[in-house]
Amino acid sequence: MSLKKLLIAVGITSTLITGTAYAHEDVKNEAVKARMMAMGKMGGSMKLLGGMMKGQVEFDAAQAQMAVQTIQDMAAKTPALFKMPEMDPKSEATLSIWDNYHDFVLKAQTLEQAAGAVKASITSASDLGAVMGALGKNCKSCHSNYKK
Ligand code: HEC
Repeated sequence: MSLKKLLIAVGITSTLITGTAYAHEDVKNEAVKARMMAMGKMGGSMKLLGGMMKGQVEFDAAQAQMAVQTIQDMAAKTPALFKMPEMDPKSEATLSIWDNYHDFVLKAQTLEQAAGAVKASITSASDLGAVMGALGKNCKSCHSNYKK
């Protein structure tokens, strides 16, 4: 990896980590904090893919695939992270999750499968539009139902 690439990678990573830590600092409920941090990782991965797509971040196939892997892993953890109806004043989750938990789990599994299906297709920056579309529609389908 070139120095420039490394600095960009580290810069992005540390911004995300700091951002995440601050965003969740005053969340008292540990279960809520954990699920928000998993979602934050998905958001950070999408942001990295978007940066590469727009050419703001140098394209790196391995890094892009790793970002999709992170989304896949966090989607796999989502059902367990949201199993109990935990709440916190800072949470943006809707209580309807626990009236429709089966549907919520299906949405997480659909994202997990979509990530698994597109990961290996990334060989150039021009692949990222389709990848982000395939993943993003699943974020949206869950958020529009279960996130304020
Ligand atoms: C199965 C449902 C589901 C899917 C799929 C899903 N999310 Fe979420 N997401 C939620 C819920 C619910 C919240 C609110 C959690 C809370 O505040 O307690 C949330 C919150 C977030 C947040 C805010 C986290 C914070 O710091 O408060 C981000 C960012 C996010 N999601 C990104 C994504 C991205 C990107 C994807 C797709 C790659 C995705 N999510 C897919 C349900 C989902």
